[in-house]
Formats: sequence, structure tokens, C-alpha cells
Amino acid sequence: MAVKNRKRLSMSLSFHSAAKLDKLAMKSGKPKARVLDTAVDALYERKEELMDHKGITICIATNKGGTSKTTSIAAFADILAKRGNRVLVVDTDPQGNLSSRFGYDPSEMHQNYIGNAILDRMKMNTDEHGKDIHKPVDYYINPTEMSPRIDIIVADIRLDNTFKYMCNDSIRGTTIMKKIVLEIKKLDRYDYILIDTRPSLGNEVAAIFIASDYVIIPVVPAKDSTYGANSAMQLMITCRESNPSLKLLGIFLTMTYDRNKSYHEVFPFLKENWDKHLFKTTIPRSQDAVNAENRAEPVTAAYSNKKIAKKYELLVNEMEERIKQEATLNGNV
Ligand SMILES: Nc1ncnc2c1ncn2[C@@H]1O[C@H](COP(=O)(O)OP(=O)(O)OP(=O)(O)O)[C@@H](O)[C@H]1O
Ligand SMILES: [Mg+2]
Repeated sequence: MAVKNRKRLSMSLSFHSAAKLDKLAMKSGKPKARVLDTAVDALYERKEELMDHKGITICIATNKGGTSKTTSIAAFADILAKRGNRVLVVDTDPQGNLSSRFGYDPSEMHQNYIGNAILDRMKMNTDEHGKDIHKPVDYYINPTEMSPRIDIIVADIRLDNTFKYMCNDSIRGTTIMKKIVLEIKKLDRYDYILIDTRPSLGNEVAAIFIASDYVIIPVVPAKDSTYGANSAMQLMITCRESNPSLKLLGIFLTMTYDRNKSYHEVFPFLKENWDKHLFKTTIPRSQDAVNAENRAEPVTAAYSNKKIAKKYELLVNEMEERIKQEATLNGNV
């Protein structure tokens, strides 16, 4: 019976995988079933923690400041939650802008901010029996008043020093964010984990890339911003050595307005260099974004009927579509 099931299983492999299995079996001189067993073992070793848990992890990054990173993460969270998803937003910027967007004043210095989650895990926190006594990741997760489907891990200025400390530890420093994200995934509570980053491509952002499934890059229509996108992609390539499944979700243009000469200069450059990564939807420059910031709300919640909100809806459609396609390519759905 077991043998029959095994045969059925190997027959249901895609043509591509079946061909690879044939090749491996021939090369190793082992039966196909044995090769499959070994492959599953290897997968289990490497990916067991990730495979069974939900939480698509997307970080937004570029070293160019003021390019709508925080505004966009807040908008994505709001839209994805309205579509029925449970979302955790993680603020990893010492400025704490995302935290204030969701009702947490970064000057209040909350005990359960992301910096303490990092420090707690940097220490060897075990009791005399070797049992892990870190505060569970749940301790660092706060609800938001805005939506029962959106939770947050907040940040504040102390994170600056925490990051320095974290990055000085060349071994644990690179994996600590990954550890935190894995703990969150293991809660099996969130469909999306959205991470806002500071305007930097330093080691702390590299640690976030290593913890993420996808990176999304905003570009404003000005030349320096395209350099920022380029550098973010270079960093992604480096981080893939530690996180081979890291993918570029895409690049989107933001703060555009049609009569802007710079937009017409930069857009062809983006098209030529990153056409397949470029989202079709562009986010317009709009005073509504600033007004929403002043109201401490995502722009899509504060001005849901305005053009900028509709554009963010379209952008999230494209993001979801790309994620779905990726999953299909990988045979996950
Ligand atoms: N589409 C837009 N049109 C006009 N203003 C915008 C738009 N998006 C964001 N802004 C405003 O631009 C400023 C920078 O936006 P935001 O804070 O989202 O950028 P950021 O990339 O997160 O910045 P930082 O690099 O400092 O973290 C804010 O004042 C915000 O309200
Ligand atoms: Mg920001």
C-alpha cells in the first residue's frame, strides 16, 4: 500500500520536477522513492518552521528618505485588513512614524517596543535547566484602535542604539529579526506581516531582508531615488545568500504628478531598467497623504474616496496578484 502511494505521489509531480527526479535517481543510482525521501528530509530540515505557518512577510525599503514608505505600509495594512486579512505591522524605524500612524505615541517609550524584543533575544535567556525564558513574541504585539484585524509592534528612538548593539554582533545580529518573524509566523495568526524600515540600507535593514519573504521598493520621480532602488536591489542580492527565498515584490512610483518634468525623465529610465518589476499603478502626489499623517491615520482610511486611496487599492490588487502567481509557480496553491 505504502509503495503504491509513493508511486502515485511521484507520478503527480510536475513534468519539470519528474524530469529532475529521473536525473537525480540516475546520477545517484538510487531508486526514485529514496531520492524523494532524502529531498523531503532536507526540505524538512531547512524549511519545516516556515512551511506550516502563515504570515506573508513584506518589508518596504530604500535608503532614500521621505519616499512614502510609512504612508504606503499604513495604506497596505488598512486595505488588506478591509479585505478580511489579519495584519501585523512592524515598525523598525527609530522615528516611530508607523507607530504614531496607528495610535501609539513614540515619545511614550513603551516597554514592549521592538527594541526590547531584539535585546531579549540577543541575551542568552535560559533558566538553570536550559529552558528558554524569553518573553514570548506575543508580549510585544499591541492591538490598534483602528481595526481589530490590525496589530502592531511599535518602535521609538531607543531602537537606534539597539540596532548599533545588534549590528555589532556579527553572528546573532543578522538572524535576530528572522527569529522574531519566525516566532510571529508560528502564532499562525497573521495573513500578512508588513515591516516598515528606516531610510537606510545598513546591516539592520539587511537583517530585516533576511527575515522577509518580499521586498517592495518605492521610488519618487527624481534621479537620486532611482539610485536608492538600485542599492536596495543590490542589498537583496547579498541577503539572498542567507535567505534564498527573498523576492522582489516590485517597484512602484509614488508622489507623481503628470506635469512634473522629472516624472517624464525618470519614468523611461525605470521602464528600461526594471520594466518587469515595475507596478503599473503609480501613487499620485496628494495633500491628502499629509493631512492623513496629521490625523495619524492611514490615508486610505482617512480619505477612502479620494484618488490616492483608489490608487493604493489598485496597487494592493497588483501586489496580491504577484504573490498569488509566485505561489502558483512554486506549486503552493
Ligand atoms: N503621495 C504623497 N503625496 C504627497 N505627500 C506624501 C505622499 N506620500 C507621503 N507623503 C508625505 O511625505 C512625507 C514623507 O512620507 P513618509 O513618511 O511616508 O515617507 P518615508 O519614506 O516613510 O520617510 P522616512 O524615510 O523618513 O521614513 C510625509 O510628510 C507624508 O505625509
Ligand atoms: Mg518612514
